[in-house]
Amino acid sequence: MAKEFNLRPAPQEDDWSPDFDSATSMNRRQFMRYGFNTAAGILAASLGALGFATILMPGGGGSEGDSAVKYWAKGREDTAWYGAMHLQEMKKDDFVAQASNAKTGTSGASGVWQGLPVTVSYIPNSQNAGTPVVDNKPRFQTAEGYDATGKYVGHFEDLVEKEPLIFPDSDIVMIFSRCTHLCCIPGWQLVDNTFTEDHWSAGGTDSGGTKLFCICHSSRFDPTMLEMNSNRNRANGQLFKYAGIRRSGGPAPVGLPLIPVIINSDGTIEGNVLTIDGVSTLDWLTYCD
Ligand code: FES
Repeated sequence: MAKEFNLRPAPQEDDWSPDFDSATSMNRRQFMRYGFNTAAGILAASLGALGFATILMPGGGGSEGDSAVKYWAKGREDTAWYGAMHLQEMKKDDFVAQASNAKTGTSGASGVWQGLPVTVSYIPNSQNAGTPVVDNKPRFQTAEGYDATGKYVGHFEDLVEKEPLIFPDSDIVMIFSRCTHLCCIPGWQLVDNTFTEDHWSAGGTDSGGTKLFCICHSSRFDPTMLEMNSNRNRANGQLFKYAGIRRSGGPAPVGLPLIPVIINSDGTIEGNVLTIDGVSTLDWLTYCD
């Protein structure tokens, strides 16, 4: 059964104090103040991904920009484990070290890639994949997926057969952080709750830790459960299938898309673009304005 999600007040916000003990969701206005806690984050929620890119990437960002993934800790410098690394390049070793201090054995951070909001998670899959799928042995699981109407879409492994690089075999999974509900920006532990830090649960359910939360209306997503899903391109109306992580709870109709990654020889994490059945993985990110 889903437990209560206790929202955490943003740092340096002293003029407005919602009832965090009883709140289980935030409305859009509240998110505008508590999402990224920055002018850029607020604008991102208003302007969409393109606006976010324009703000963060000199010259408007785009495909010729730096493909490194960078930490995004603005407004959370004193509370996030990566708070001192805002806009520094993400390194896998940082995540591994952080996970060694966590009861779940996993770690995650908000970031920015090509001007887009992302969440990056470390899951010790290569360490646990050879063992049975049981609680507290965090690993990737693959599953069949269903669209917003409940219609079967396909299995994650179908996509892996076509493009093996879709599977995050580096143990690092990067997720596009625009909610499939109303396009707010989910984040890694932007909310504080009593159970995300205590254990990992198998099965991609709404219990256990290691979740992404959208604090607009409390949708939850499990970055350890990989599935195929479908969504609609907002620009041309066309449906597309994608590899993503499972929606485990809340009003979001489907899960969030993956962004493939490469781990460079120096350990830095870089976004990658693949083509499957003639569709670019960048097209998976087109469901928001
Ligand atoms: S925008 Fe509503 S739950 Fe994310």
